[in-house]
Amino acid sequence: MQPYGVPCAFALLIAIALLLGATTNGIEIRHTDNNVENIAARKQASKNNINPVENDRQFWNNVGNDLLQKKLNVERKYGVAKNVIFFIGDGMSIATLTSARIYMGQLQNKTGENEMLSFEKFPYTGLSKTYCVDSQVADSACSATAYLMGVKGNIETIGVSGAVSNRDCLASNDPANQAVSSMRWAQQAGKRTGVVSNMRVTHATPAGAYANVAQRDWECDGDMATDKLAEKWCVTKSPDIARQLIERETGRNLNVIMGGGRAKFLPNTDKDQQGQRQDGRNLTKEWLEINRTSGASSVYVTDRTQLKSLNTNETDYLLGLFATSHMSYNLLANKSVEPTLVEMTEKAIEVLSKGDAGYYLFVEGGLIDWAHHSNMAQLALDEAAMLSKAVGRARELTSPDDTLIVVTSDHSHTMTINGYPHRGSDILGHPVTASTDKMPYSTLSYANGPSARERYNLSQDNTKEPQYQFPSMVNLTWETHGGEDVGVFASGPWAHLFVGNYEQNYIPYAISYAANMGPGAELERKHGDNANSSSTRISVGPSLLQSMSLATFTALVAFLLQ
Ligand SMILES: *[C@@H]1O[C@H](CO)[C@@H](O)[C@H](O)[C@H]1NC(C)=O
Ligand SMILES: *[C@@H]1O[C@H](CO)[C@@H](O)[C@H](O)[C@H]1NC(C)=O
Ligand SMILES: *[C@@H]1O[C@H](CO)[C@@H](O)[C@H](O)[C@H]1NC(C)=O
Ligand SMILES: *[C@@H]1O[C@H](CO)[C@@H](O)[C@H](O)[C@H]1NC(C)=O
Ligand SMILES: *[C@@H]1O[C@H](CO)[C@@H](O)[C@H](O)[C@H]1NC(C)=O
Ligand SMILES: *[C@@H]1O[C@H](CO)[C@@H](O)[C@H](O)[C@H]1NC(C)=O
Ligand SMILES: *[C@@H]1O[C@H](CO)[C@@H](O)[C@H](O)[C@H]1NC(C)=O
Ligand SMILES: *[C@@H]1O[C@H](CO)[C@@H](O)[C@H](O)[C@H]1NC(C)=O
Ligand SMILES: [Zn+2]
Repeated sequence: MQPYGVPCAFALLIAIALLLGATTNGIEIRHTDNNVENIAARKQASKNNINPVENDRQFWNNVGNDLLQKKLNVERKYGVAKNVIFFIGDGMSIATLTSARIYMGQLQNKTGENEMLSFEKFPYTGLSKTYCVDSQVADSACSATAYLMGVKGNIETIGVSGAVSNRDCLASNDPANQAVSSMRWAQQAGKRTGVVSNMRVTHATPAGAYANVAQRDWECDGDMATDKLAEKWCVTKSPDIARQLIERETGRNLNVIMGGGRAKFLPNTDKDQQGQRQDGRNLTKEWLEINRTSGASSVYVTDRTQLKSLNTNETDYLLGLFATSHMSYNLLANKSVEPTLVEMTEKAIEVLSKGDAGYYLFVEGGLIDWAHHSNMAQLALDEAAMLSKAVGRARELTSPDDTLIVVTSDHSHTMTINGYPHRGSDILGHPVTASTDKMPYSTLSYANGPSARERYNLSQDNTKEPQYQFPSMVNLTWETHGGEDVGVFASGPWAHLFVGNYEQNYIPYAISYAANMGPGAELERKHGDNANSSSTRISVGPSLLQSMSLATFTALVAFLLQ
């Protein structure tokens, strides 16, 4: 060994470290680019601040004080939520909320940053952790199991516990592994129930309301037959999702089912409707038969005109399938054929309100997710704006004294809002130029997706075109979900239960307590409404209790009472 080897190497390291230090100190890393043009532009921009009132510090004092007053005046609502409306913005990340509110404001020629989506005005907000039993980032299947059935499972499975791995038919048929839907809790409490989506009603999110299946893509028997990874006997042993909707108790008892997906219900001999069923069954016809002898009125509609003219007073069961597959983006839809999410929500509330014991409605704005997957940010923001309108309408049609509304998302996406654009910059634009390569970059961009390509000059792109694909980095055929927490917004009785940071599967438990149904009806009612609970409490069937171990139940009680 060289006697001076170690000290020499050490000296070299110090020299390198000094050099590196000098380099980092030498280049001034700043938040905003400090080239001459940018400094001038910033100076000009702050002189001509777009909202000059905001230059006054008193303005912000007032904003802060007003908000404080509002918060101090919020009163917690107790009692029992007779009705619950639960909205999911599929893939509606926090970045989607922020950019959607700017988008909505800018449609009104405002700068947009300080706008509020309808549910951002709700008094209580929390964050939910969306990971699944086997996956750091959720898909819509395992997350639906969490927020609709109260159980976390494996990715791509619906309504089954983590004991069921993807495509494990045998395990999924074991009742011990099946979760019970909060829709069933409501039905057993005598409530009317409904599911509305702008995706196929057999797609992962709506299926979370009624199905137990080891693979989300098994929407009809044709899907199972063409699934190369599925074992053949599955097709005969495991009913597809569309069949579960009309054969199993939860699905059969839904008063309202609206969305897309006719093809999954119709025989493949029906070429006109692109039917996909191999068993020759017409499940829409079979659905109409379910209550034919009961004296209840069942109505099946397939377009907006039929829905508009529906007499909801005389409708007990409503099936609306408005597209062969998913419904269309609001910005691109043929409005004479497809109702909007707002219209479907209104009609659902009308039909469900007929019940004496209240109702539980689940609504999914699913196209937010679909657009993000294609890197089509504008469509995603526009769909989030539509969800905001549907929630606003639902809040107008109901009273916060007896109707709990909860709005959340199943998981996030990889879109970011980045750069340091000036206030009021077009959220769909590319207002900032990079000092490094002198090319502009868009405020919205994705970590991955089908739009990925080498860095290029997008100055000439029409980023306002609805289907413009915003830039992404990693080349994937389909942009992925994101894994960070999602927001939860609540208004109505027990809305304050949704404050904090919690597991996603807590949500249906909190709903069940607010509405005094399912597991929540087993608990002592707090805040003096015990007197009413004995009459309104309806015992839940043995299936629910069997499905919950004593340890789980004790942990739940401890959690809710903490
Ligand atoms: C209990 O029921 C009575 C009569 O229906 C009602 O007036 C009262 O507001 C209810 N109390 C609560 C806390 O819900
Ligand atoms: C916004 O401004 C544009 C252009 O000045 C105008 O055409 C449009 O009507 C305005 N929209 C609203 C909602 O005020
Ligand atoms: C399926 O049933 C519906 C409802 O009865 C009916 O309108 C439709 O024509 C039927 N389609 C086929 C292919 O049988
Ligand atoms: C409609 O059919 C379902 C499923 O069989 C049944 O549970 C329900 O009670 C029926 N509805 C009415 C109003 O009879
Ligand atoms: C439905 O019932 C409501 C309330 O009873 C009533 O106001 C409305 O006129 C009825 N609508 C129709 C079309 O019968
Ligand atoms: C919308 O659908 C109707 C009914 O199918 C059709 O007559 C009309 O041409 C469509 N409109 C557009 C713009 O495609
Ligand atoms: C980017 O394109 C715009 C418009 O074509 C052009 O004015 C600009 O010089 C280009 N920037 C670079 C760095 O090539
Ligand atoms: C992205 O990947 C696909 C599949 O390998 C390839 O066909 C396509 O050319 C890639 N796109 C870019 C911009 O690299
Ligand atoms: Zn998705």
